[in-house]
Parts: sequence; C-alpha cells; structure tokens
Amino acid sequence: MLANFAVNKKGHLTWGGADTVELAKEYGTPLYVIDEDMLRQRATDFQKAMKKYFPQGEVIYAGKALFCQALCDIVNELGLSLDVVSGGELYVALKSGYPPEKIYFHGNNKSLDELKMALNNNVGTIVVDNWFELNNLEELAKEMQKKPRIYLRIAPGIEAHTHVHIQTGQEDSKFGFTKDDALLAAKKASLSPNLDLKGLHCHVGSQIVNLESFTITAKVMSEIKAKIEREISKEIEELDLGGGLGIQYLPEDPYISPDEFVKAISLGLTDSNIKLRVEPGRYLIGQAGITLYTIGSKKEIPGLRTYVAVDGGMTDNPRVALYDAKYHAVLANKPQKEKTDLVSIAGKCCESGDMLVWDIMLPHIEPGDILAVFSTGAYNYSMASNYNLLPRPAMIFVRDGIPRMVVRRETYEDLLLRDIK
Ligand SMILES: Cc1ncc(COP(=O)(O)O)c(C=O)c1O
Repeated sequence: MLANFAVNKKGHLTWGGADTVELAKEYGTPLYVIDEDMLRQRATDFQKAMKKYFPQGEVIYAGKALFCQALCDIVNELGLSLDVVSGGELYVALKSGYPPEKIYFHGNNKSLDELKMALNNNVGTIVVDNWFELNNLEELAKEMQKKPRIYLRIAPGIEAHTHVHIQTGQEDSKFGFTKDDALLAAKKASLSPNLDLKGLHCHVGSQIVNLESFTITAKVMSEIKAKIEREISKEIEELDLGGGLGIQYLPEDPYISPDEFVKAISLGLTDSNIKLRVEPGRYLIGQAGITLYTIGSKKEIPGLRTYVAVDGGMTDNPRVALYDAKYHAVLANKPQKEKTDLVSIAGKCCESGDMLVWDIMLPHIEPGDILAVFSTGAYNYSMASNYNLLPRPAMIFVRDGIPRMVVRRETYEDLLLRDIK
C-alpha cells in the first residue's frame, strides 16, 4: 500500500482523495492528515475478523494511538468500545458524548481523583493494574456505594518480538500483577461486595509482526484464567488480550490482516465462545495518517551525507528518537519524479537525534517542496510536544476527498495560555 499511493492529474500525492499540496497550502504545515475511509475500513475489517472467530468478541479502540473528539465520534458510530488511559482521555471521551459504559479505563497509576471520576461517570470497566489501585478502588467503591466491573491486568511473562520500550508483557515490567499476585488479587476481588471481577487483561507489546506471539499469549492467558477460576471457584467470563498488531512503516514491511491476527489468537484459545476483547490502536489509525511538511534548509557534507530540514520534527513525531522508528516518505508535489538524491530528513529542533528519516532516495529537493511522511497516524499527534516551543500541528480528517479540520493548529498565544508572569 505504501508503494501504491494515489496521484492526481496535477501529479500531486492525494490522501483520502484530497490533493495534499492543496491541503498544505490551505492549512499550513506541518499537518497531520488522516484518511477517514481507511480508518473506517480497517475498523470494519477488525470487527468482521472478531465475529468470525469469536462471535461474542468485542473490538476496543486503544485511544492512546490518537485521541480527539472527532475520533471518539467515529469509534462510537462504528460500534467500537474505547480504551482510555488517563483522566484526560476519559474527560475528552465523555465531552465528545461517547457512552461511558463502553469505556475501558487503563493505567498503571490511576489517582484517586481519576478513579472517582470513573466511578462518578459509570465507566464500563476499570482495568486494575496493581494492589495500590485494587485497594483504593475497593475503598472508593464502598464509600460511593458502587460496584464497578473490573479486569485484572496481568504481566504474563511473555517477551514479544518488538522494541524493548514497547514490550510490556514480560515479568520485568511496570505494568500489571505478576502471575502469582494475580491469583491473590482475584481472590480478594471476587470476595469483595464492591467489586465485580469480570475479566483478565494483558498487553504484551506493540508493533508485533510475529503472529506466534499472539498465539502464545492467548494460550498462556487461558491457562492463567483456568488456574484462577479453579482457585476462586468462579468463572471469569471475559479475556482481554490487548493490542499490538504491527503495521507497515516501510514498503517492504509485511501486511498482517486482522483475520490473521484473530486467527492466531484462536489457535491459542480453545473456547471460541469466550468474550474475547482486543485493543488495536496502531493498526486502526497508523497507516491512515500521513504528515505533510515543508522543506527548508539543506546541508551537504561531501562524501558523507546530505541533511534536508523540515518545519517540524521530534515535536510532532518523537518515535524516531524514542524507538529508532523507520519511516517512508515521498515529495507530495512530485512523487513520481525520478529519485536522484540520497538525503536524510531532519527536524528543526535543537537535538541531533531530531531526525525523521535516515538515508532515503527522493527526487531532487528544493526549498518549498512538500514532504509526505507515511504511517504517522498512530503515536504521533498523541505523543506530540512543545519542545523548543514549537506550536503543535493541525489535524485534518479527509472523507471522500473532503477535508475537515478536527484539531486546529496551535498559535503562539496558545503557548502563553498556562504561562504566568
Ligand atoms: C493496554 C494497551 N492496550 C492497547 C494498546 C494498543 O497497542 P497497539 O497500538 O500496538 O495496537 C496499548 C499500547 O501500548 C496498551 O498499552
């Protein structure tokens, strides 16, 4: 898909049917552009795969990948549940009108205020990460005369094949109960009159392209579930195996479909009637997004490297600096011109590590050209910062070729909103 981008009569890259050069002109750069149709298609494909292998299953969108009210509306319209991970995400979801009963509240250090907010708003499921939270939630629920549905997050001791910073299921992880503690926590929760233990949860990592990891996770979690059920003499109806399905960042990366992902899970789970939950984030929104930049300065170091700088960088996409992530890019105003220049794309921040792409062949580049970086829909906008006080970009959703702004560009005045003199 990355190699087969669409080009219009003017020879410009189009995204979601819209001319990207026109978008850059109208809305400025850097600019996040999301193909809403691709997001919808991917969500529908996921739901179909789930229904095929697990008729009682449910797909939960992991909001951490990209969160804004317009996205909550689409998630709601498509019938997906929603995973939030902080009071902030919960607040925005509720403000957007997203139904609270379909929200799953994650996080490894939820504050008392965040737990109260969840209880006050009747959030559907709280995914309890640790003893501190379990004890706090039980007390709060008692005080507030509530009985929240809970899952227990478990670190199942699985090392997924992905970057070490996005592995989360191994025993040596900040997330979740160890397997032994999970048993004790389940006992406590199942005896509590103020907690409704409904499920177990795990998430072993992100950007996983090895399907076997998902089969092993499913198998290990169903064994843990069976052991806990025996100990507490009670059925645990739901099992949430998190997200993690990898996407294509480079044209040579493999495409793995939701069908293959859910099928891999089904190979590790014997009970197809189980209420399985999965929480894809990156798969749904990652490839639907591109970022447009304007090319500025150039530095040629003869015999070594040519750096070309854009008007954004690690502030709108910190994944290269964080995870050594690789990206593919084209010149949006001349994507089909012959590729003659080997260049590396730098950001404009005061950090040597502020790079977007190392060593890529592009057509001859001139200042003012528009660069489109692919697969930036996930963990870009949601991880953006104001480092060097760069205002954060606007975000556009495009459907059937029609753009609409869903997040406006930050202004210099915005940078002073919380600054007190
Ligand atoms: C608990 C949990 N669920 C779901 C996800 C989404 O993962 P992905 O975007 O890789 O599908 C994450 C990502 O880190 C996570 O921590």
